[in-house]
Amino acid sequence: MSRKRVAVLISGRGSNMAALIEAAKDKNYPAEIALVLANRPDAGGLATARAAGIATEVVDHTTFGKDRAAFERTLQAALTKHRIDIVCLAGFMRLLTADFVSRWPQRLINIHPALLPAFKGLDTHKRALEAGAKIHGATVHFVVAEMDSGPIIAQGAVAVRDDDTEAALAARVLGVEHRIYPLALKLVAEGRVQVVNGRCLIDGMPVPDAASIISGE
Ligand code: GRF
Repeated sequence: MSRKRVAVLISGRGSNMAALIEAAKDKNYPAEIALVLANRPDAGGLATARAAGIATEVVDHTTFGKDRAAFERTLQAALTKHRIDIVCLAGFMRLLTADFVSRWPQRLINIHPALLPAFKGLDTHKRALEAGAKIHGATVHFVVAEMDSGPIIAQGAVAVRDDDTEAALAARVLGVEHRIYPLALKLVAEGRVQVVNGRCLIDGMPVPDAASIISGE
């Protein structure tokens, strides 16, 4: 089976992108990172991608003003040019329209630093601490038009500690992100994830319990 060509879309440091690049170095991994695309020319992850010999593109959203359609047309053109099969959002801080999302059914995935559907949006670690959550974590999901929604492909959990700070919790969740994103992309690239009634099945079975991979770190 030929490897799927993956684009990773970033806005910042790109540590999840780096985890995907690392996983894809294994010749048996079913996907190759064919493109890293940033919406900000100063995204730190671009240098990491270039150093790894991966093609990069910048589609700077600020040059499109309020014209989201034009931004997304340019994005789509870059993905087409690089013959992309699967798109991974990894800290990509732009909302995508329903029109764009509908072009990538079950081929557009995102990582969110919380156990969805809890704590959609920003500042998830701070909000989890404020809420007194005892379990927190990260979710990889298919993207749908509604933000931080869509069928869950993988979750990983961490126990929240009494003396946790936002930074300490964020670091432990990030460690989990770097494990579940390569795992989720592998499953999608192998065609093992099916969406039935809005939920993912993996090899026909429900997604494993996040508690089974609670991080001991
Ligand atoms: C991650 O926590 C990701 O879940 C969130 O933004 C952060 C991006 O970090 N959406 P990085 O750029 O992958 O290091």
